[in-house]
Amino acid sequence: MTAKHAVSEVRRRIAGPRSGGLGSARNGGRKGVQAPQSVATLLHRSARPARSSIFSALILVLAGTRPCPAQTPPKVPAPDADAGAQIFMANCAHCHGPKGEGTTGPALTSPRLQRASGDDALLRIIYFGIEGTEMPPSLTLTEIELKAVARYVRSLAAKVEPVAPGNPFAGDRIYRGAGGCDKCHVMQGAGGTLGPELTAVGLRRNPAFLRAVLLDPSSSLPEGFLQVRAVTKDGKSVTGIRLSEDAFSIRLRDLSGGLLGFWKADLKELQRETGKSPMPSFKGTLTPAEIDDLVAYLMTRKGDK
Ligand code: HEC
Ligand code: HEC
Repeated sequence: MTAKHAVSEVRRRIAGPRSGGLGSARNGGRKGVQAPQSVATLLHRSARPARSSIFSALILVLAGTRPCPAQTPPKVPAPDADAGAQIFMANCAHCHGPKGEGTTGPALTSPRLQRASGDDALLRIIYFGIEGTEMPPSLTLTEIELKAVARYVRSLAAKVEPVAPGNPFAGDRIYRGAGGCDKCHVMQGAGGTLGPELTAVGLRRNPAFLRAVLLDPSSSLPEGFLQVRAVTKDGKSVTGIRLSEDAFSIRLRDLSGGLLGFWKADLKELQRETGKSPMPSFKGTLTPAEIDDLVAYLMTRKGDK
């Protein structure tokens, strides 16, 4: 679901009858839902103005649509710690790990989360997801559940940040030198486009995932990723990554980064090489220490800043 859908979902909930919305049907009977608060206030009892209008709309939905002075003492009972852990296990653990240590998604154990530094941001990220990334929205959580899982995330973040053992400066040199990674990956505006951009890879992945990709690139292919091999009627064979496809045509990026388009009628053969990656494994070509350095370097890549 995209953020656009999320917004219209919130609009629908505001406009529609008060059933099914956050904090209405399921929590309607509970004490304290009638004393509206921003969710951030409920979480940490420190009133703070919401920054985005979408989020204020969300807060109105959460609060049962009646804005009310923020000084009202919170009456919602604190959700028990187990509830948050259970919701996390069911909805988040397959990407963030049961203890927030990270699997395909980033670890949530750093003392300060990069994007979810404040409570507003944390609640917004959990509810709406992060557009354009693999972090999905959780629009079906109730107010109580949202708060419980946010508290659980905060309890993970009290622990120590996972450290990759390598040397990031050495990793930077390997990236550009022996690794040849910039042939296929954009880093801060420079590099080839065959693989995904790595400028913010330290935000979306964790050390264990990165190590696994370097040793066995096909172990975790991005969603929708497909390598194909096309053979034209005159016998020319091209391997590339599918960019788009319909009944009549297919567009590829070949392994040197060039864009190609074919009419399917002109092809003798079109093979879907499911589960394959054009990225080479570095198991034999880099030493374990060099892999450590690369992982340490990639974990420092957290965007342009
Ligand atoms: C399908 C995998 C997936 C699921 C399910 C998922 N996440 Fe995420 N999450 C991610 C990814 C990937 C990112 C990093 C996005 C990026 O920056 O590219 C992320 C980012 C986050 C962040 C921001 C971290 C930071 O450094 O600021 C938080 C907080 C978070 N997720 C919490 C949750 C919670 C809580 C749940 C369950 C309700 C959840 N996630 C479910 C994949 C997932
Ligand atoms: C021949 C091109 C090529 C080279 C060289 C290459 N990669 Fe890749 N890489 C890819 C492709 C394509 C993908 C996406 C498919 C996959 O995950 O295997 C990818 C995926 C990745 C991912 C996973 C990104 C994510 O968020 O899922 C990382 C990390 C990565 N590469 C790092 C590196 C590093 C570090 C090097 C150098 C040591 C390198 N790659 C060399 C093509 C390449």
